[in-house]
Amino acid sequence: MTINTLNILAFAGSLRSESFNRKALQIAKQIVSELNANVIELDLKTLNLPMLDEDLRAYGFPESVKKLKDAIASADVLLIATPEYNHSIPGILKNAIDWASDITNPFDGKVAAIFGASNGLNGTLRAQLHLRQVLAALNVELVPQPQVFIRTAQSAFMPDGSLVD
Ligand SMILES: Cc1cc2nc3c(=O)[nH]c(=O)nc-3n(C[C@H](O)[C@H](O)[C@H](O)COP(=O)(O)O)c2cc1C
Repeated sequence: MTINTLNILAFAGSLRSESFNRKALQIAKQIVSELNANVIELDLKTLNLPMLDEDLRAYGFPESVKKLKDAIASADVLLIATPEYNHSIPGILKNAIDWASDITNPFDGKVAAIFGASNGLNGTLRAQLHLRQVLAALNVELVPQPQVFIRTAQSAFMPDGSLVD
């Protein structure tokens, strides 16, 4: 039996340079790098997506949107780290998912593992519930367990980016 290399696309829904979710993503990347996997990280800050505006389609998708769609289409598995803003998904992440799924849906049939870090005591619990709902709408299979909630993130990481606990 041939076991193909998994293509894993990893991204975080934060633009902040010291983002806890970017740090959590690096740890997740280290874990999956032990698998037979090709891991690519997509930096939403560098991608610099515009806000979704359906009028823009008249000119064709912006290059950044094409890149995002291609990156998702090329992946077998998605690793998504989400912050929590006002008990939900940050706009930056929702905007990326909405752009990526506009007209065509490259998420269709992908598998995703989601996790998150936040300053609150619930560690993105509520944001992750919303993210599960949004990804389910796009026919993404969500890894059911383990669920990873990194709470009080301001004290959860060592200076080198590893987790205290
Ligand atoms: C507008 C706003 C809303 C926030 N809402 C929540 C929240 O509902 N729950 C929570 O735990 N943290 C909340 N936070 C704090 C974030 O958890 C914190 O800013 C975190 O560092 C963001 O993730 P990042 O470090 O990956 O950028 C909020 C922050 C902002 C700016």
